[in-house]
Amino acid sequence: MTDISHDRLLIIDFGSQVTQLIARRLRELNVFCEIKPFNTVDDAYLEEFAPKAVIFSGGPSSVFAEGAPMPPQSVFDLGVPILGICYGQQVMMHCLGGKVVRGHGTAEFGRAFVTPSDEKLPLLEGWFLTDREQVWMSHGDHVSAIAPGFEVFGTSPNAPFAITGDTERNFYAVQFHPEVHHTPNGARLYENFIRLAGFKGDWTMSAYREEAIANIREQVGDAKVICGLSGGVDSSVAAVLIHEAIGDQLTCVFVDHGLLRKGEAEEVVTMFRDNYNMPLIHADEQELFLGELDGVSDPETKRKIIGRLFIDVFQKHAIEVGDATFLAQGTLYPDVIESVSFSGGPSVTIKSHHNVGGLPEKMGLKLVEPLRELFKDEVRELGRELGLPPSFIGRHPFPGPGLAIRCPGEITREKLDILREADAVYIDQIRKHGLYDDIWQAFVAILPVRTVGVMGDGRTYDFACALRAVTSVDGMTADYYPFTHDFLGETATRIINEVPGINRVTYDITSKPPGTIEWE
Ligand code: XMP
Repeated sequence: MTDISHDRLLIIDFGSQVTQLIARRLRELNVFCEIKPFNTVDDAYLEEFAPKAVIFSGGPSSVFAEGAPMPPQSVFDLGVPILGICYGQQVMMHCLGGKVVRGHGTAEFGRAFVTPSDEKLPLLEGWFLTDREQVWMSHGDHVSAIAPGFEVFGTSPNAPFAITGDTERNFYAVQFHPEVHHTPNGARLYENFIRLAGFKGDWTMSAYREEAIANIREQVGDAKVICGLSGGVDSSVAAVLIHEAIGDQLTCVFVDHGLLRKGEAEEVVTMFRDNYNMPLIHADEQELFLGELDGVSDPETKRKIIGRLFIDVFQKHAIEVGDATFLAQGTLYPDVIESVSFSGGPSVTIKSHHNVGGLPEKMGLKLVEPLRELFKDEVRELGRELGLPPSFIGRHPFPGPGLAIRCPGEITREKLDILREADAVYIDQIRKHGLYDDIWQAFVAILPVRTVGVMGDGRTYDFACALRAVTSVDGMTADYYPFTHDFLGETATRIINEVPGINRVTYDITSKPPGTIEWE
């Protein structure tokens, strides 16, 4: 557990898809919180963590299900404010003597409107800006009788107990999800909740930096650490932070798997070896990776191969470094959440992120993951705090498997070379038009299809490519970037003129969901 001196809030996770957004809203309010799966919260943990307030997340279960997720009863005796959300509300009522019923015909999914009762609740201060407030619901069951001590403060057509509270004990429970964007004024609810709980809002990035450094020193002692540097913001910030904590005990390994963007290897090596004076191994493993990927077209197989080879390469260099016992990674909070379900087993895996899971056991190395609790924008803030150049911090995310997942179908050196060139032209266009910082991530994917074209007076039969550019806050959801037609036209012309091997350019206008940002 992180050793922290500031106020802490505990989020007990019952498996909602949006639990991490609760953490997000709280972090925006400078509140430190930890998300713990319900089945890992026991009396000892509660005593050790000593939360100043607790939030019960939503979740997919029904309190009627056998073995339904429940919090330890002792959480209600801590004497701290509790906020239950959706399933968290139902659990709270169930545990405290209220009643929940199965939602036959009364399920609510999506937009709903909550009307306030006449009674005023401090939790709702400044919330009802009109006589009804839009909220986002996602529930089958609902509360049919509130627990003793509770009152109703808001109703929606299918949730007569949309907002309930016991102001004596400072227990609050809502049926909707205030943490999602579709509850437009939801952040106000969290703001009021933490105010009622007496939080000072003392969790800042400079505090995080100091704590993270102290934690790294404590965890690592005088052991050696190797860090996989990808050149992306996450691993760069992790490396700089760890270097600040333990200096030359850290050696970075930059693996060139042949799936990097144009000029990337040189940029990264110059930056860290020359500017930061970090011991850095530049592992040129292009032959190894591209050899093993030869003929492979299934996306998950590609990811697995790349993940496995990364491990092999790290293992090799861990030995070279001389008895490194730790592996540092720039794993972020969304990686952790997307990869591990609340019950400890695999949740619905959309894509296996190669930088989590499985590594330490196979390598006999322990993990140092100082960014594990942070969201992307928080990592950028930490990077600024650590003095990384803005041009580096502002770089678009780049996935560990690199261009492999932007090359649907079989990977060949020819396709990779074409892709690199096209990508460089595209990014150059975006920079020239001053759009780079407005876009979360932009890249080219080369499509596994050749199309017919005409250039000069000749027939061409070359690859088609897709441009991708998205806006996003956290990479969890995304929308396509609305380039002007002029921009798209100019970029297509440049790519076709400047990149031999491509004769057709398309623009991907899929949002996430239903698409993902990367093509694989
Ligand atoms: P998707 O494609 O799942 O991507 O919408 C969301 C964000 O995650 C990045 N991504 C990865 N990053 N290792 C990484 O370090 C991976 O295996 C990986 N797969 C996707 C992706 O670039 C986007 O920013």
